[in-house]
Amino acid sequence: DQLRAALQHMPKAELHIHIEGSLEPELIFALAERNGVALNYASVEELRAAYAFTDLQSFLDIYYAGASVLLQEQDFYDMTAAYLARAEADNVRHCEIFFDPQTHTARGVPMRTVIDGIHRACQDSPVSATLILSFLRHLSEEDAFATLEAALPLRDKYIGIGLDSSEVGNPPEKFARVFARCKELGFHLVAHAGEEGPPAYISTALDVLKVERIDHGVRCLEDAALTARLAREQIALTVCPLSNVKLRVFDKMEQHNLLALLDAGLAVTVNSDDPAYFGGYMNDNFIATFEALPLGLSHAQRLARNSFAAAFLPAGQKQKYL
Ligand code: HPA
Ligand code: ZN
Repeated sequence: DQLRAALQHMPKAELHIHIEGSLEPELIFALAERNGVALNYASVEELRAAYAFTDLQSFLDIYYAGASVLLQEQDFYDMTAAYLARAEADNVRHCEIFFDPQTHTARGVPMRTVIDGIHRACQDSPVSATLILSFLRHLSEEDAFATLEAALPLRDKYIGIGLDSSEVGNPPEKFARVFARCKELGFHLVAHAGEEGPPAYISTALDVLKVERIDHGVRCLEDAALTARLAREQIALTVCPLSNVKLRVFDKMEQHNLLALLDAGLAVTVNSDDPAYFGGYMNDNFIATFEALPLGLSHAQRLARNSFAAAFLPAGQKQKYL
């Protein structure tokens, strides 16, 4: 129908996509064969059948296993090029892509192999694309510092720093010193907070880490004072509806709080998170959300506008979308 066509065709920015989460089962098998890596699954179908998650950790275990096939620079290039082609088809005009270097350097893959492969694909795409290096929060702050050190010779190839992986028990404050250093270095800062973790993690991400956007943040509504602050300061939330349902943050899309977040005056955006694992790319996320909730064209326009407003782009570059 008309709304569906509008959702598909409107120019949009994606601000929350983990490139390792765009690795489709078919590409996992192709790279496993190319690199001689053994997989614990006999077929694409068997792997896809394992994508039945109960919470964040049950997803992360299989997501890190999938990434184990990435060894050569061309592997990182091919994965990123495939994502950017899908993004272009969904009328994504700009994206800010997370990558998890520790998932690869821990397996002996050099930092430059990871960053050069992903970055070269971004440069070859007609879609505007920048990179955000994300620290794994289940690892130590010392490990994050070592990762930053290894990535600094390539600092012109990423614009920001993020924080992802297992949230509960790994609060933002654990990374206070390394984020302070990243701020001194002039990087944009973001962090996952309030996905499975409590609203207090959103507050400390803002107050201790000094982040500019919150990734997910859906649990903010449990704290009225925090919600009022996020609205007043227009802190963008990069919400990922299909991810939230697959990881049981909400049991059904009908129960998602995206409309409540918008009604609270928050700077909400829609994103895909890990599209190969959660059942869809950008437009799939928009369509699933708009089918389940009483949202209309004005909401769609607001979400698209929010995505460009919250992007780490020079004012002149986003002006045409605002
Ligand atoms: N949350 C935390 N870590 C992640 C996610 C997520 O949604 N996706 C990939 N790593
Ligand atoms: Zn995420």
